[in-house]
Amino acid sequence: MSDFSNPQLIDRFGRQVTYLRISITDRCDFRCIYCMSEEMVFLPRAQILTLEEIVTLAQAFVELGVDKIRITGGEPLVRKGAVGLLERIGELDGLRQLVLTTNGSQLDKSAAALKAAGVKRINVSLDTLDSDNFRRITRTGDLHQVLKGIDAALAAGFERLKINAVILKNRNHREVTELVAFAIEKDMDISFIEEMPLGSVDGHDRAAEYYSSDEIKKDLEQRFTLLPTPETTGGPSRYFRIAGVNTKVGFISPHSHNFCAACNRVRLTAEGRLLLCLGNEHSVDLKRVLRANPGNSARLQQAIVAAMAIKPEKHHFDIKAQPVIFRHMNATGG
Ligand code: GTP
Ligand code: 5AD
Ligand code: SF4
Repeated sequence: MSDFSNPQLIDRFGRQVTYLRISITDRCDFRCIYCMSEEMVFLPRAQILTLEEIVTLAQAFVELGVDKIRITGGEPLVRKGAVGLLERIGELDGLRQLVLTTNGSQLDKSAAALKAAGVKRINVSLDTLDSDNFRRITRTGDLHQVLKGIDAALAAGFERLKINAVILKNRNHREVTELVAFAIEKDMDISFIEEMPLGSVDGHDRAAEYYSSDEIKKDLEQRFTLLPTPETTGGPSRYFRIAGVNTKVGFISPHSHNFCAACNRVRLTAEGRLLLCLGNEHSVDLKRVLRANPGNSARLQQAIVAAMAIKPEKHHFDIKAQPVIFRHMNATGG
């Protein structure tokens, strides 16, 4: 039953869910130190949703009032058939915004096809412009390849590109000004992210390396004038404009400025679990519902609507404690 004018996804706190983030694979060609441990075990292929199942689920959510879908990973573009999948999701009636979060490693070859598939905006992870540091943070990534990807995406003409930078004390906190200058030069936006304690990671002390959004903002104000703006993309970034240029600077501050009261999103993991909050484990196994009721979209929608009753009020991240969420970020793509 589709009724775009009558949204049905409302949780116990009166928040309306209009934004779905779909992780289409937990695999990635990088091993970012804040996201993964060096040795990771990925899901067996049989356990992840097929492309067909992802389209069916996306359609069910759009019929229930979701108008923004972000495709994430792992690294979404390492999944075979990713571009074709985006094309199909881009065709869904009622979807206003199809967007993508990527590490940029495959963008040089797929940017034009993604634009043709209807992707409106792309967020690219980029924590440093120093190639040695890039290799240390991503463990396997090649900065040059990502920069080529960013240029290809700029040439393809998306509405907007945004850089995501996770800032860690003594790893890249001295580079924030340079990253903003890069974003200005390329006419992109940029968000600085406080690390979240998801899954255990090795070779990196999360508490010792915490660098708050307020510290970043203070550093940036040495060189730029930041003007607060109420503009929003429907994501958790608090944005500032830089006087005289087009670039917006965002801060995603789960520790220092909680944004859960305005939460409008849920996540679908690659194995088909509907996760109601990034910082809690409340979830519903939609793959099971889908496979037990083939072709029954009413049953699927019922399960999605019912899931709203268990959406938690907020996350309880504590960067100083051992992580209580064992799932790594690559299971949800953020
Ligand atoms: P737009 O605002 O649409 O550009 O995207 P976004 O910033 O919401 O998405 P993106 O995939 O670029 O994610 C950037 C960072 O925000 C990642 O580290 C995500 O984990 C984080 N993030 C997004 N949504 C939430 C949320 O609901 N809770 C928390 N704690 N973090 C979130
Ligand atoms: N905390 C905060 N952000 C993270 N990301 C990955 N792992 C973490 C973490 N533990 C970021 C990536 C990417 C976005 C989807 O999430 O850098 O930009
Ligand atoms: Fe891959 Fe993104 Fe995780 Fe880095 S943060 S390892 S690019 S999924």
